Amino acid sequence: MTKVATHYDQVADIYDSRYDESGGNTYYSHICSGVMRSLPKDGKLLDLGCGTGLFMERYLRFGGEVIGLDISRNMIVRAKERTNSDVTLGTAEHLPFKDNTFDCVSSVLAFSYLQDPQGTVGDIYRVLKPGGSVSICTLGKNVFTSAVPAAHKIGEKLHVKSVGMVSISERYYKPDELSDLLSNAGFTDISVKRRSFAHVSLSPSLYSIAKKFEPLVESKIPYLAFNMCASGVKPKN
Ligand SMILES: C[S@@+](CC[C@H](N)C(=O)[O-])C[C@H]1O[C@@H](n2cnc3c(N)ncnc32)[C@H](O)[C@@H]1O
Repeated sequence: MTKVATHYDQVADIYDSRYDESGGNTYYSHICSGVMRSLPKDGKLLDLGCGTGLFMERYLRFGGEVIGLDISRNMIVRAKERTNSDVTLGTAEHLPFKDNTFDCVSSVLAFSYLQDPQGTVGDIYRVLKPGGSVSICTLGKNVFTSAVPAAHKIGEKLHVKSVGMVSISERYYKPDELSDLLSNAGFTDISVKRRSFAHVSLSPSLYSIAKKFEPLVESKIPYLAFNMCASGVKPKN
């Protein structure tokens, strides 16, 4: 089993609480709205790195159908309970689905863990139907995220049980890296936008200040936004 799968197996019981409280909930909703806007609302969605099914649940509310895939057994048990949809245990780096199967593919906060993102994006292209869309949100590279690997190393040494506190070679993307991944695979209508300034782990008072500045940061100083939303379309022919 990989280190990341072991980590998410260990934190599956506390994962949802991170997004329950008001700050966590608005943080997660903000990301989801960035992902959702590039997806058809009633299609057949594959959610990669589905975790406990938080994004699957939101997509189902629009009347679509969802299949989740995740590398952690304990996370997908919860996704199954939450959504009553099909969930598959496996890695996003080898998709066990036939060509041209899905109307859309999403991935929320999981791409940073992939060792071969170009291979995964190529496989996403393969399983999408012509005209289908992909929408990804993942951590971007900036002044804040460059400190994260060191924090993870310290947290791991201190045996801190916290979501994401695992020291592995996580990847934080620049906008043109995500754009290249999508165009190399054959996607068109590519969009990459930085998103999120208020982070869930800030204290409530700092979170609400950062939240006030979030629209300004995203539009005028996007480099300071630490997530990245990327989307593209598989051409019809
Ligand atoms: C931060 S959680 C995000 C979960 C969910 N997408 C959400 O929005 O709440 C990252 C998830 O990615 C999964 N993951 C990491 N590497 C993966 C891989 N190679 N293939 C599939 N899932 C993976 C982890 O097990 C974990 O459930």
